[in-house]
Amino acid sequence: MARQTNPSNIAVIGMEWGDEGKGKIVDFLAEKADIIARFNGGNNAGHTIEANNKKIVVHLVPSGVMYKNKLNIVGNGLVIDPKTLLQEIKNLDKNGIKISPQNLAISENAHVILPHHIAEDRQAGSRIGTTGRGIGPAYTDKAARIGLRMQDFIDDSIFKKRFGEEEFYREYKGYAEELKPFVNDTAGIINTAIDNNKKIIFEGAQGTLLDVDHGTYPFVTSSSATAGGACTGLGISPRKVQSVMGVCKAYKTRVGNGPFPTEITGAVGQKIQKIGREFGATTGRERRVGWFDALVGKYAVMVNGIDSIALTKLDVFTTIDKLKICVAYKHKGNILKDFTTSIKILQNCQPVYEELDGWWDDITKVRSYDRLPNNAKKYLRRIEELLKVPISIISVGPKREQTIVARSEFLV
Ligand code: IMP
Repeated sequence: MARQTNPSNIAVIGMEWGDEGKGKIVDFLAEKADIIARFNGGNNAGHTIEANNKKIVVHLVPSGVMYKNKLNIVGNGLVIDPKTLLQEIKNLDKNGIKISPQNLAISENAHVILPHHIAEDRQAGSRIGTTGRGIGPAYTDKAARIGLRMQDFIDDSIFKKRFGEEEFYREYKGYAEELKPFVNDTAGIINTAIDNNKKIIFEGAQGTLLDVDHGTYPFVTSSSATAGGACTGLGISPRKVQSVMGVCKAYKTRVGNGPFPTEITGAVGQKIQKIGREFGATTGRERRVGWFDALVGKYAVMVNGIDSIALTKLDVFTTIDKLKICVAYKHKGNILKDFTTSIKILQNCQPVYEELDGWWDDITKVRSYDRLPNNAKKYLRRIEELLKVPISIISVGPKREQTIVARSEFLV
């Protein structure tokens, strides 16, 4: 399929295990957008945005909030902890970012996380190392058809009938009243906007390998983090998603348990973890660090139909002598060229690496592709060759302006 250039809308998808820097990329793209619509997950995600001399971490509110006059949508694919969402709105307010129904709409069909979901997750979640925010149990109830939708939560005749006897009822009834003005038919809003050629960013949380269907199951989250999730999580046809941008880091990270073939355990791993400040935005947990894995990359390109890549944290590699890219897995004497979701194979395979030379020049102030050191360009080109997808954006630091646009035709 031909790549769509100059699209009106883009789905922004994590290509790995989350934490790829989607928040920064969505914030960067949002400047030109009218609507930023998040489609999956909950407050297990943490999107860090640094702009206008502020550093803000959002968990539920989409990453377009740093701009005025844009509509941020929390789609039906999410599970919402009302207490956290209200705290987030207040925290943004304290930072001078006013949230109102003019810039935030919450889907009436998003599901609500209640205290028993959180309690259950904290007990059962340790097996795979969840974030303990009640995400899995809330999605479980949704699939079991005993969940609570936003529209039922804000209708007290329904909420009281179901949970009136519970200890949390009074407290949560207050939250429902506060959130009521934001609840809306977001699928209708988005489809009207698409028909009117508005520019829209569909914001994914987590990443391809944490997707409940396509990830490294059972070490996954409970939602659809891949491009298809943009359709189900917002109520739009696949024919309306014009382009898909994959976000990946120059190296790989993973929090929580589960296989990670290219994990680096020695001093180099610690150096990357330290320079890259690889500690979770939601839980503060250390992130495991690994080399670029082209098998993961190609897999993410395939299941998401990625048109172009935003590669983040390239600056973290400065001063790392030799860079490795995994091009195959060796397993029981066989060479595997394609990714597999078999945990057994992933846990018992050895990565086959190509080695490239690193660079020593500080690149955090570079703003054009041409000015990058030759070895950095070689590294990027090799990734493009292996994944057969162009890199459109390169991030060289956490700030909005620390961004290189290599191919503007893939941006809105
Ligand atoms: P849960 O989403 O809290 O159920 O956790 C399931 C797995 O997904 C755990 O390994 C978490 O660490 C991981 N996870 C969930 N959300 C994120 C995220 O936003 N970034 C990175 N890992 C995540």
